[in-house]
Amino acid sequence: MKVLLVNGSRREKGCTYTALSIVAEALNREGIETEIFFVGKRAVSGEVESLVNELAEKTREADGFVFGSPVYYASPSGEIQVVLDRLFSCATAELRCKPAASIVSARRGGTTAAIDVLNKYATINEMPLVSSCYWNMVHGNTPEEVMQDREGVEVMQILGRNMAWLIKSIEAGKREGVVQPAPAKKERTNFIR
Ligand SMILES: Cc1cc2nc3c(=O)[nH]c(=O)nc-3n(C[C@H](O)[C@H](O)[C@H](O)COP(=O)(O)O)c2cc1C
Repeated sequence: MKVLLVNGSRREKGCTYTALSIVAEALNREGIETEIFFVGKRAVSGEVESLVNELAEKTREADGFVFGSPVYYASPSGEIQVVLDRLFSCATAELRCKPAASIVSARRGGTTAAIDVLNKYATINEMPLVSSCYWNMVHGNTPEEVMQDREGVEVMQILGRNMAWLIKSIEAGKREGVVQPAPAKKERTNFIR
């Protein structure tokens, strides 16, 4: 069992990475394998197609996802939005019905608005959202400051634990013959009369 954690920051080892690492450690403690995938500037430097193909390949093997981003102007980073726009178009089937969570890091504000945007990728694709004991955010401008946000650290730990529980429950369900719902034949009305 494996969880893919996507770091949508421009900084490879910054605050978002720090928060994702805490979630990953909690998952590892529960016996779940993890990989942190760095989006970085490739998303906006003409390499988005190869980046998304790489991510789509990894999506196949993953049993759960954590989408992480710094808050930029009260939204997720442009980088992660570009990548998720593309990924959710081309890897819909591989993502569907797998548990997901969104986490953000901010100096101060815009956190819940940014989480809301990230969660919407999962909730348009039948992915169960995993929660913690508070909304999934940490505060800080540096990894050291994030580690000082003791409540934020605990929120990330509990998120990892809860995701492990859900992934294991889904696996146990499969062993007992619980069948994943088939994709619906979607009715698309575009509000044109
Ligand atoms: C372009 C830009 C916009 C930002 N906008 C916000 C914001 O709206 N609210 C906020 O609290 N912090 C804002 N910040 C601060 C970052 O969200 C914060 O430092 C975050 O923890 C950085 O994560 P990272 O180290 O993973 O990049 C902004 C930073 C940058 C570079």
